[in-house]
Order: sequence, then C-alpha cells, then structure tokens
Amino acid sequence: MEFQSKNAQVASAKTDALILAVYENKTLGSGAQAVDAASEGAISAVLKHGDISGKPGETLILQALKGCPAKRIVLTGFGKHGDTSDGQFRKAIAAAFAAVKGTVAKDATLDLAELVVKNRDATWLTRQIVELGEAATYTFDQYKSKDNQKKIHFAKTTLCVADKASEKEIAAAVATGKAIAAGMSYTKDLGNLPPNVCTPTYLAEEAKKLAKAVEKLTVKIIDEKEMKELGMGALLSVSYGSAQPAKLIIMEYKGGKKSDKPHAIVGKGITFDTGGISLKPGPDMDQMKFDMCGAASVLGTMKAITDMKLPLNVIGVITSAENMPSGTASRPGDIVTTMSGQTVEILNTDAEGRLVLCDALTYIERYEPASVVDIATLTGAIIVSLGAHATGMFSNNDTVVEQLKQAADYTQDRVWHMPIWDDYQSQLDSPFADMANIGGPKAGSITAACFLSRFTKKYPWAHLDIAGTSFLGQPKGATGRPVPLLTEYLISQTRL
Ligand code: BES
Ligand code: MN
Ligand code: ZN
Repeated sequence: MEFQSKNAQVASAKTDALILAVYENKTLGSGAQAVDAASEGAISAVLKHGDISGKPGETLILQALKGCPAKRIVLTGFGKHGDTSDGQFRKAIAAAFAAVKGTVAKDATLDLAELVVKNRDATWLTRQIVELGEAATYTFDQYKSKDNQKKIHFAKTTLCVADKASEKEIAAAVATGKAIAAGMSYTKDLGNLPPNVCTPTYLAEEAKKLAKAVEKLTVKIIDEKEMKELGMGALLSVSYGSAQPAKLIIMEYKGGKKSDKPHAIVGKGITFDTGGISLKPGPDMDQMKFDMCGAASVLGTMKAITDMKLPLNVIGVITSAENMPSGTASRPGDIVTTMSGQTVEILNTDAEGRLVLCDALTYIERYEPASVVDIATLTGAIIVSLGAHATGMFSNNDTVVEQLKQAADYTQDRVWHMPIWDDYQSQLDSPFADMANIGGPKAGSITAACFLSRFTKKYPWAHLDIAGTSFLGQPKGATGRPVPLLTEYLISQTRL
C-alpha cells in the first residue's frame, strides 16, 4: 500500500473512496460536515434515515454526491465524539478499509482533522492508519495459481492534513508507520511460509539478504559444528531428530555510538514443532509452522529499525531448529548440558523452545547488552491465560517492564505483565539434573519463563510469550505482532 499526506481540503479531494467520520448521536466529523455542506445536506439526509448510527465497525458506502468530486463516500462510525477509545478507533479504521477493499476503488482518502481519539495526537492516528491500511490489503497467495489469486484494487491512501504546520510531523509519522507496517508484512510472510520452505537455513539466508541490503548491519551464522564447540548442548538436542541443521543467527546493527551498549532481541525459530518424541496430536499440527514467529518478528523488527535508520545499537538473534521425532531425536529422560554449564533433564521433548532459547541467551552475554527481550511462541498455556489479545510479559527488571508497557499501550500491540516469583521455581526441580525442562501442569507459561530466568541473570531481561498473539487459527495466518511493540520499545531507547 502506498501512503501520502497532503495539505488539502477534504471536500474537494479527487479520490475513489472518501472515508468520512460519523459519530454517535448523529454527529458528523468536520470533514463530513464540509462534504455535507457541499452536497446540500446529502449526508445529513442519510443520517436521518438511520442507516448508520456511528458505532465503531459500522460503514455505509454512498455513490458520488453532488458537489463533491469523490467517486464514493465511505461513512464510518467512530463512536461518541470526544470519547473514541484506541480500540474503537482501530476497529473503525479497519472496517473503513475493509469496505474500500470490497469495492473496485484504487485509492482512499481520509481527513485527519475530523478524527478525534481520546488522549492521542495526529502522529499516533497517522501511524495507526498506515499500519491498518497495510494490514487490510495484505495477502499471502504466492503458492496459489494466478487464477486463484485475489485481485485487490485498493493500493493507495491519502491523508488530508488541514494545516501546513503539521504537514512535516505527519510525513514523519507516515514514514515511521510505513517502516513498521513493512516489518509486519515481512514477519507475516515468513510466518505464513510452509515449513518445507522456511527452514533454519532459509531464515539464515533471509538474515544475510537483509544485511546485504543495509549498511551498518552485519550477520554471523553459527552452525552446528560451532555450537558444539561453544557447548550449546540444549540447542543442539532439539535438532538431533531433524535432517535440517540448526542455525544460530546473529545480526548486529550499529546505528548508535560505538560505546553504546546494544539492546538485544532474541527470537525462537522452531520452523516446525512436531513435539519430537513427545509427539503432538495430529489435528492442527500444521499450525506449528508458526513456531518461528518469534524469529520472524526479530527479522521484521530489524527491517523496520534499519529502514528508519534508528540511532541505536541492536543485536537481533534467531535461535532456529526443527523439532522432529526420529531415531536420532532426543528422548524424555535425556540429560543435556547447556552453554551456561547448567544441566537439564528433558522430561518432555515438546518443551523445546526454552532449550533453543537458553543457549542463545547465554551466548549474548558477551555483548554486555543494555537489555534483552526474547520473543517466543513458548506455551499453549499463555493462550489459555490471555487469549489472542495480549502477549504475556515476564521480566527481571522493572524499568524494562515499564518501557515495554508504554510501548505496548502506544502501539496497541498489548502485553500483560505476568509473575515469575521464586515460589514457582521449585516446580522445575529434577532428581537427576540441575533442572527439568517442564514444571508440571500448573502455571505452564510461568514455569517456562522461570526456566529462562535461570539463563538471564547477567542483564535486564524480558520474555514475551507470543503463542496467542503472533498467529491466528481463524482466519489462519501470522499477525505480524509483536513488531510494533518491539520497534516502539527500541525507538523509546533513543529518547532516553
Ligand atoms: N510451540 C509450542 C507452544 C505453542 C502451543 C505455541 C500452541 C502456539 C500454539 C511449545 O513448543 C510447546 O509445545 N509447549 C508445550 C510445553 C509443555 C510440554 C510444557 C505446551 O504448551 O504444551
Ligand atoms: Mn513444543
Ligand atoms: Zn514449540
């Protein structure tokens, strides 16, 4: 999707689809009022009929109105004027874009001045609109024959900016929004790819491609031989059963000062999770191709921050393997030694995410990171706790918690802070090793985070369990989350 901002009057906009705001109690937005005046009350007449009440999610398409050059008007409900919440605004914009997409309109125009959201400025509105516009027209049909691919006409959105003064501010917000939206689409693409294509080696090639296109970004791939030398027994144990070799992918972006400590983001990249010898049930197992969505969000975020030329040093890490059952797969009861020296009794080979993560989390100690955020589709239990709306956040540092909460609120890529109190740690006790890799049926997301906390003592750290938020079962597909959250978190570090 192409986006532009323009200092123009909405009533005279030449566009295929003019999106106008209707608020509850028959109140028109300022843009809608202008068009209503130009069209001799055509919109108020429709309102009178009651075909649209102004609730978020409602839309009504009108064909060309007298005195207004737009080919169509998309009346869109935004809730009570002055009281529209973030969520209502997102719902309304998504509905408006869906309505446009349902027509043959090639472009849409919005009037920023008439959109009012409680406690949000034009920059916020712009970034949300850009992100939602890109999402509305996202498709993944590269594996369909031409005849089966959906033709989408909608390809451009123009934002009308009323005053010249804010033009620059809006243009900057469009640029940031575009970078994040492109990062999300890239993350979705990687997530949606089939697992016979998107292997650990494929992810490594993607990282190399990104590094080639970006100055100040370099990539290092650690292969299984080097993993052995580094003592990464946990990571290696997961790929024992697979014909695909594991890859630890390290991307270094040096956008900041040489002396600045880097921030690290570490993604789980299980390109297919069968469960291993602790085999998962058959139904829905295809969804376990999404078990690399953490890794995909790291690539998407690296793309976004390098597009934006963020003045910050960032290490993007992907710890990638395929979890398969076979004669060489690890078994329940196996004991492995992690890079940290701590030993782990593998009681369930399906708890493999923490095994690939722990060695990566030890490896990055060498960068003395300012903060580390890991991102993982780690537990089914987090879906039970939080559903598809909030990512589970666990941390050993209050500052990181606050910063992530703020970034989540701003982007509406939301998180919920979960505990990792010491009381839970004993669930990981093992009679034979330093710890077991599972903590029993209670609080599965928390004991998974407790496991990781044993490898992250040397730096401020947060763990994001994205099993519920990074992909959906219905309609099937990756969501591009938490790229907005991670990008905003990193942006916020440059303001400190
Ligand atoms: N990749 C799964 C978690 C998952 C489940 C992600 C559903 C997305 C949707 C993870 O590797 C896993 O299998 N976790 C186990 C842990 C258990 C064995 C302690 C789980 O959640 O059942
Ligand atoms: Mn698993
Ligand atoms: Zn998994």
